[in-house]
Amino acid sequence: MDYDYFVKQQSEVLREAAGDGRAINALSGGVDSAVVTVLGHRALGDRLKTIFVDNGLMREGEPERVVSTFTAMGIPVERIDARDEFLGALAGLTDPEEKRRAVTTSFYQGVFGRVVRETGARILLHGTILTDIEETVAGIKRQHNILAQLGIDPEREYGYQVLEPLQTLRKNEVRALARHLGMGVELTERIPFPGPGLATRIVGEVTPERLETVRAATAIVEDELASSGAFQYLAVLLGDKATGIRAGCREFGQIIVVRCVASRDAREATAVELPWAKLQRICGRITELPGVNRCLYDLTPKPPATIEYV
Ligand code: XMP
Repeated sequence: MDYDYFVKQQSEVLREAAGDGRAINALSGGVDSAVVTVLGHRALGDRLKTIFVDNGLMREGEPERVVSTFTAMGIPVERIDARDEFLGALAGLTDPEEKRRAVTTSFYQGVFGRVVRETGARILLHGTILTDIEETVAGIKRQHNILAQLGIDPEREYGYQVLEPLQTLRKNEVRALARHLGMGVELTERIPFPGPGLATRIVGEVTPERLETVRAATAIVEDELASSGAFQYLAVLLGDKATGIRAGCREFGQIIVVRCVASRDAREATAVELPWAKLQRICGRITELPGVNRCLYDLTPKPPATIEYV
């Protein structure tokens, strides 16, 4: 693929669509939205406003890390603190689809709608890639093409047009484009992290306490498996509890599942055969977390499982 040509062509499309107007995009820190951000700023300069929505569902230190990485690249990113709004919308929900809907609605109808109105932006840049479109069309995913799934015509509803500059690329091509654009390895090789964040890794209700547990477990798994070369690795908090023993007393505690998968593009995946000693180490660290007394390793391939749990 001729990435110079791709960048030139997409920049022309963006400039033409934006005209004299303003554009907006939301950066999550993932490679897709990161590439859209760099591409968009090269094409539109400060007519593109990039926001980072802190939904309270991010990993440890992630909001600060993402904003400072882009600031260092000369791209200003506005952090919007919407933690209460998202957690409020998730309170009391246990159904996976309702939880996903609460996150997307808080994002598009809440925070994003407000920012669009405030800035008067007419164009929204979105990091949709080819696999997202294929999986949505095949009915495998419901998280992409979300505005249409919510029955929202963005042009009519909010007065903005959605542009998807990466829609012909697959993940490996997005990573190659990121390298071509001179982005650092912390962005180009970042493991996938879902838009609804840690909410996809909590079975049952998402509460500040449960988020704290899964966030701490995630940090341990990422620390231990960073050099595994796996496609993705994560921690999940189950809705069930189990009896255990701590400090000589019986305790009804939380259960964390560790998942580590090999995959090409997330459409299919297999569990990685991790060394027993590594698994034991992870288990030891995770069961030191307050209230967690079990740690399981998930062997299930996709299909029939998905990679995330919600
Ligand atoms: P599943 O769980 O469907 O996930 O096997 C496949 C890949 O997609 C990621 N994923 C998401 N990414 N928004 C995203 O941007 C989402 O709602 C979402 N759900 C899952 C997941 O992490 C995996 O890499």
